[in-house]
Amino acid sequence: MAEIKKHWYKEMSVYQVWPRSFKDGNGDGVGDLKGILEKLDYIKSLGVDAIWFSPLYKSPQHDYGYDIADYKDINPEYGTLEDFKAVLNAAHEKGLRVIMDLVINHTSNEHKWFLESMKGKDNPYHDYYFWRDGKQPGGKKASNNWKSTFTGPAWEYNAALDQWYLHLFTKEQPDLNMDNPKVREEIKEIIRFWLDLGVDGFREDVITFISKREGLPTGFPIPVACGMEHYKCGPHLDEYLAEFRKVTDDYDCMTVGEAPMMTPKLALRFIREGAGQVLNMMFNFQHMEADCFMISWIPMPFNLHKLKAAYDRWQRKLYGVAWNANYIENHDQPRVISRYGSEKYRVESGKMLATMYICQSGTPFIYQGQEIGMTNIRLDSVDDYVDIQTKDTYKLYRKLGLPHKAVMKITNRASRDNGRTPVQWSAEANAGFTTAETPWFAVNPNYKEINVAAAEADPDSILNYYRRLLKFRKENEICIYGDFRQHYKRSGKLFVYERNSQGQRMLVVNSFTEKPVYFEAPQGFDLSKGELALSNYPVADQSINSFMTKPYETRVYLFK
Ligand code: NOJ
Repeated sequence: MAEIKKHWYKEMSVYQVWPRSFKDGNGDGVGDLKGILEKLDYIKSLGVDAIWFSPLYKSPQHDYGYDIADYKDINPEYGTLEDFKAVLNAAHEKGLRVIMDLVINHTSNEHKWFLESMKGKDNPYHDYYFWRDGKQPGGKKASNNWKSTFTGPAWEYNAALDQWYLHLFTKEQPDLNMDNPKVREEIKEIIRFWLDLGVDGFREDVITFISKREGLPTGFPIPVACGMEHYKCGPHLDEYLAEFRKVTDDYDCMTVGEAPMMTPKLALRFIREGAGQVLNMMFNFQHMEADCFMISWIPMPFNLHKLKAAYDRWQRKLYGVAWNANYIENHDQPRVISRYGSEKYRVESGKMLATMYICQSGTPFIYQGQEIGMTNIRLDSVDDYVDIQTKDTYKLYRKLGLPHKAVMKITNRASRDNGRTPVQWSAEANAGFTTAETPWFAVNPNYKEINVAAAEADPDSILNYYRRLLKFRKENEICIYGDFRQHYKRSGKLFVYERNSQGQRMLVVNSFTEKPVYFEAPQGFDLSKGELALSNYPVADQSINSFMTKPYETRVYLFK
């Protein structure tokens, strides 16, 4: 078995806060730092060790904070830099580390660098972005065919300059020209600023997109994200990340990079432990494609084989040489119970899904509301959605000729807004998220049943299960450092794996169906010799070596 280097970032578990919908502390309908401060004890009570804040920075909020207008200030709706320091200090006092979102592929079009860059071709900030002449003057044709990853062209015309600027996301998110050494110096200064303030690491937004191929060549003509082959893991990515790592190396901090379209083989180029390592971990997307083709907007029936194959690849290929970042939800994903589990068996499947990924090798990330089993929302009109990607994709699908009803069905299922409804704190008005009459975005009508207060009062709630699970992981090194080996690979209903460490073994059984499935302990396992450490049903006799599974059953056996 490979020798694993121990580190705090491997042992921790992380809670992700998407600030706008977490908790409103000042009664204006929008989540904020005051609300976060109020709920730090709750976060701590889960048994996590760190909080990752989705962007809190000053931003016009076209992409809800992923369009930054000032990297060194807080969005006024959320509070002030002083409020942030209060949260940071309070978190540290409670033993919680703080991870910031580093969004450096692009800024907001309201960032002062961009405003300057628009002033003229000889402005020193002009070369901070990708300004290009069109193929024809007068705004008729951009210099290449690249398309935004959110639909539409990746270029926006500016008549005063008779030039176009590149934006891989919305037109309010111009891409930074990382090839300009001055831009990289700015980024390093921003990294230092937050680390000097005391933060403990960064989640790095679409970090694998920051280096574009020279000359920005024509892309392979696909309708969305055309040109990606010229900026995904581009020519200077390793070099630029190594420069940033030199800065972070001066501090005790961790980095996790968001990496769309990533494979384990490619990831190892960046996260293999040793001299060339430029990031501690990467968020990959392969396990989020078990019910869709690449993105949730191209839905397909859920396929457990696909899910298991993705996990198997990442678990085995990284073990002993790199480290996984494990998640099943975040602010870009619909709720996982509605996708891979069952709303009918919400509590059972919520616990099973938690066990399934938290017991694997890697650092677990838990998204706000996931721990109480929040589910997707269904809104009747596209106008009720607030996310720009949702609105744009709806328009694209309608333009392609799909009927409204069909597109709404996809929207309900695929929208990122599913994960962005306010956290349901109680059965009070607006789920206790705000005292304002109207929250900034719709509360899921199921809040009277699904909320933190109700979950606190029920020892068998998903919330209390998460607490037991995270405690178990912390108390059992095998759950952190053990290896991973799958059983019954061909089953389309069960996901079974074992972990091994220093003579100990752990067996994890997960059923992905409400139907009974016959389970027999894999060869070499005698359940009567193990301890049933976790389960989502009472088990009358845990020592019997075979059983019929209950709906979405999960069991964790420990063999010491
Ligand atoms: C990934 C972020 O998670 C997402 O929310 C955002 O829209 C894009 N990057 C652009 O920053």
